[in-house]
Amino acid sequence: MVCLGNICRSPLAEGIIKEKCKKKNLNWIIDSAGTVGCHVGIAPYDLSQQIALHNNIDISKQQCRKFIASDIESFNLIFVMDSSNYADVRKICGSKWKEEKVKFILNEVYPNQNKNLSDPWNGTEKDFEYVFDLLDKACDAIIAHYS
Ligand code: 4NP
Repeated sequence: MVCLGNICRSPLAEGIIKEKCKKKNLNWIIDSAGTVGCHVGIAPYDLSQQIALHNNIDISKQQCRKFIASDIESFNLIFVMDSSNYADVRKICGSKWKEEKVKFILNEVYPNQNKNLSDPWNGTEKDFEYVFDLLDKACDAIIAHYS
């Protein structure tokens, strides 16, 4: 799960899908990362933690990390939140880039539309709720699609 900062959207995506995998006994290896390294080592943003906890998911132990080129070899699928994440992942991967592995997460809900899930950074609780609900639907769809 990849976004820009790895403090708002992708930590939620990681927490949501891990919880769903646990409930379904799916042994998937899930991780998240950001395409910039400016928050490395810190926990997810407060409002992301809050909306997750409100939905009984604890993401407080996650630590921000930067996406690296070898992630595309380590994982079968990379889900990005928006088109700029997509471009950044492509750039970071360089010669390792594998188009078939990198997906817009909202295509799982709205196929082939390449819709952006914009970052809620500086937004309100309602913005984080909106992001949570869409990611929740997308993660259900990912599990239905790939399990
Ligand atoms: P994220 O949101 O990509 O969903 O983690 C952002 C977090 C931080 C910043 C931008 C987006 N930032 O500019 O610091």
